[in-house]
Amino acid sequence: MRTLIKNIKELLQIRDASVKQVSGTDMKELPTIKNAYLLIENDLIADFGSMTNLQDYEVDTILDAANKIVLPAWCDSHTHIVYAGNRENEFVDRINGLTYEEIAANGGGILNSAKKLQETSEEELYEQSVKRLEEIMLLGTGAVEIKSGYGLTLEAELKMLRVIKRLSQNYPIEIKATFLGAHAFPKKFDTNKEAYINLIINEMLPKIAKEKLADFVDVFCETNYFSVAQTDTILNAARQHGLIPKIHVNQFTSIGGVQIGVEHNALSVDHLEIINEGDINSLKESQTMPVALPSCSYFLGIPYTPARQLMDNGLPMALASDYNPGSTPSGNMNFVVSTACIKMKMTPEEAINAATINGAYAMNIATTHGSITKGKKANLIITKDIPSYGFLPYAFGSNLIDQVVINGAIV
Ligand code: NIG
Ligand code: FE
Repeated sequence: MRTLIKNIKELLQIRDASVKQVSGTDMKELPTIKNAYLLIENDLIADFGSMTNLQDYEVDTILDAANKIVLPAWCDSHTHIVYAGNRENEFVDRINGLTYEEIAANGGGILNSAKKLQETSEEELYEQSVKRLEEIMLLGTGAVEIKSGYGLTLEAELKMLRVIKRLSQNYPIEIKATFLGAHAFPKKFDTNKEAYINLIINEMLPKIAKEKLADFVDVFCETNYFSVAQTDTILNAARQHGLIPKIHVNQFTSIGGVQIGVEHNALSVDHLEIINEGDINSLKESQTMPVALPSCSYFLGIPYTPARQLMDNGLPMALASDYNPGSTPSGNMNFVVSTACIKMKMTPEEAINAATINGAYAMNIATTHGSITKGKKANLIITKDIPSYGFLPYAFGSNLIDQVVINGAIV
């Protein structure tokens, strides 16, 4: 099966297969071809180039993309889209003056979602989650990481991870699963936190590894959640089971989460709303991708990750949605890219790099996703008629996507 997309006004993010991520000033560059074609063979990008060099290919389908821009589908490396119910009541509480931390301390927050999820059947959880997965695919996401962490019991964590597995079996979108048992301490472990850590290490991790339910491990390393020492203990155990760390750090406080992530060779450290020079210095010595979640900052009214400071220090940056019921009830990567430009002063080139190739790196799929490269998955966004790619983040709030292609097929 061959599909030719021709007369593309501009084809974005053309990369050599050797490029796995872009850092620092290189992020300002977004390689493109104007007046281009792209050939899809089955699920892969077979060829692309300037229309003037188009050969006489035999194809099954031709799409005319005159006035349209084509770019790689978004790679959303941080979400929690498998959850039960919603938390709009907490949203109203925050409007009325409570903080995210105060709501959590009153039994709301993650524990509220965990209670709902524990009471929801696996089937019902799947049905609720499918809606969100289909929604983000139509919004241009072609690869997504999904975390557990609203179960907080062996049974409920397994339920979440099995739902994630079922989603990945039933949908063409690339899905990576992350075990986030260390998202919050359940109430009954209030006076014996060590017992919950032991439950994670001795019961949850072995079972999850045995059933091959997760690629990555995550910990919410934060004041009032998991300390640096507890994070260290959990990551040590998880790595012995072959799970790669990707951790929540520095959302509200800088307590050494970045350093422990780097020490464990984490694939990414995510949030980073609050960072200091020590955090930046340890990232400089690492292969770890810093991930910003601007929709979370927008929704909670907390600081934005200082992207300019990170990139001006030569570091890479990825952008992800953090789609979850508490801090970010949105998985719209188009909004993420816009918000990164508007609020974090990333240029359109930097933001698109961060949401494609660097997002793929943060999911360990940079050899197959995140750029227009021969042999990579044909995961594409075909825009509506727009004047330039800068119009994508500029016209925030408009849906500028005409078609989404995942694994060579139109969604
Ligand atoms: O990434 N900060 C930790 N976890 C999620 C929010 C979880 C929730 O409030 O339900 C986040 O923002
Ligand atoms: Fe998160």
